[in-house]
Amino acid sequence: MSSGDDRARADTEKRAAAERAAELVEQRMLVGLGTGSTVAHLLPALARRGLRIRCVATSPETADAARRLGLDVVPFSGRDRVDLAIDGADEVDPGCWLVKGGGGAHTREKVVAAASDRFVVIVSSDKLVDRLAPPVPVELLDFGADATLAAIGDASLRGGARSPDGGLLADYRGDVADPAALATRLDSIPGVVSHGLFPPALVGEVLVGALDPAGEATGTGAHVAVRRVVPVARAGGG
Ligand code: 5RP
Repeated sequence: MSSGDDRARADTEKRAAAERAAELVEQRMLVGLGTGSTVAHLLPALARRGLRIRCVATSPETADAARRLGLDVVPFSGRDRVDLAIDGADEVDPGCWLVKGGGGAHTREKVVAAASDRFVVIVSSDKLVDRLAPPVPVELLDFGADATLAAIGDASLRGGARSPDGGLLADYRGDVADPAALATRLDSIPGVVSHGLFPPALVGEVLVGALDPAGEATGTGAHVAVRRVVPVARAGGG
């Protein structure tokens, strides 16, 4: 299969997951909107529902796109909870650890996810991995950035890229075998604003779009299933 086919397949799966997540939104909710190509499918699906909701956006790109579709985007300041946040991810491991921040918005995305009563992650099936792999995005303060990079180790700036709040974006390319230990270490380094490792405790559920190859093979049209993955602690009632 060509890389174009792979992209089309992933896009179909992203749309299916996003459309399923849009169905979870209820009247009068405050909804957190993530950033990226999967969330780009969520916005029209949400707008089509015609609900009276308000949204907080994790990037100017998402805010602009949502407003163009008629969604009511409000500032997050002055509000301390979000009813439901929906966002994509770069990688999801079997324990529901996430790597996020490919789009550089992971700091806002983590703030919104942590403030939400329910955080729903929407991904195509290629985002599911057996083990997380680098890069892990990191946002840094400008002040002392070289010292911060040295303390992180195995990290480099992502060109001149900036986060939605103007922070420097870097990528950590070292070992990610123990995400909890790495997250603790990165959190402890002065100058690190935040990193793209999201623990399972933040994740309410992951909706995974998956094209059914059998449908394609029989010519009946590709059927896209959406599988719901719940972190073990929550599945067990924790
Ligand atoms: C942006 C993110 C995105 O959610 C992540 O990069 C996935 O992107 P996409 O939906 O385009 O595959 O974390 O900061």
